[in-house]
Amino acid sequence: MNLYLAPVQGMTIAGYRNAFARIFGGIDEFYSPFVATADHKKISTSLLKDILPEHNAAQVKVIPQLLGNNGDDFSIFSSAIYEMGYKEINWNIGCPFPMVTNKKKGSGILPYPDMIENFLDIVCARKPYTLTVKMRLGLESSEEGLRVMEILNRYPLGGVIIHARTGIQMYTGSVDPDSFEALASACRHQITYNGDIFTYDDYIRVSKRFPYIKNFMLGRGALSDPFLPALIKGKTVPPAHKMSMIKEFHDEIYMYYQNILSGDKHLCDKMKEFWSYISVHTDRDGKLMKKIKKCHTSANYLQAVNQILCSPDGWSGTPLR
Ligand SMILES: Cc1cc2nc3c(=O)[nH]c(=O)nc-3n(C[C@H](O)[C@H](O)[C@H](O)COP(=O)(O)O)c2cc1C
Repeated sequence: MNLYLAPVQGMTIAGYRNAFARIFGGIDEFYSPFVATADHKKISTSLLKDILPEHNAAQVKVIPQLLGNNGDDFSIFSSAIYEMGYKEINWNIGCPFPMVTNKKKGSGILPYPDMIENFLDIVCARKPYTLTVKMRLGLESSEEGLRVMEILNRYPLGGVIIHARTGIQMYTGSVDPDSFEALASACRHQITYNGDIFTYDDYIRVSKRFPYIKNFMLGRGALSDPFLPALIKGKTVPPAHKMSMIKEFHDEIYMYYQNILSGDKHLCDKMKEFWSYISVHTDRDGKLMKKIKKCHTSANYLQAVNQILCSPDGWSGTPLR
């Protein structure tokens, strides 16, 4: 069984992935947040800085992800990525944000199988790397995904990751296991399940429902509970050690952002995002998040979070909300 960390824009960047792998483990491959392709004749390294090998620990397996609907642009970006040493690249056809979908990108391309065919004709004719796809059930309905799967089946892909929601659901509502099953059975490629694995019991439920699925991608569940992937792999951490590991993780990410962001405000805003996930297991009464939201200086921020980070019983094994 393989576990993958889902790409989460603004969160699962190089510093986060490196710290996660070293401190918590349990993840076999880390998908990078998407880079949007565009009409560039030459790709400057600043566009790809998150995946530059010098920013990524050698033992962390990263799968770069690209978003776009133009096969020529994609090929230029993917050549540059291949030249950095990556052998696998993921195509995002799942992003649900209207700014993306309105341009027929992300899940916005799912109602247009002809565009997908045209894209894959161009990309697959040239690619020396393995191409994988991350998709949703459809933009508005799972019938769209089934039509797309007929096209995907015709190309030499390394696998398909399915987030079991439609694009218009965004991140709300529930996943749709029946539609996932229909799409997975129609797919001749290796499938990865993605969506709403927040606890060990969620993982057990999904793996029992789909015993033929061997790959699982975790996003918000792993960001909220970084012990979850290792737990799924059978490794438990004594509860008394958990908060010190969270502190180590927090401090590494804080330092990482301190080095790359200018000004306390940006740093505090970034760390608020970090806590929006971690607080699910640490903030019993909502007071911590309220305090963090009010912080605009690093001194205030550190004062607010150190109390919880230094409390040995600050971690709740089950989600608090
Ligand atoms: C804030 C945010 C940013 C995301 N960014 C990306 C992204 O860059 N690329 C991508 O394929 N999916 C992205 N996703 C979707 C996740 O990778 C994942 O498919 C989704 O959260 C469902 O999995 P989960 O229920 O385990 O979180 C993002 C999700 C969130 C909440």
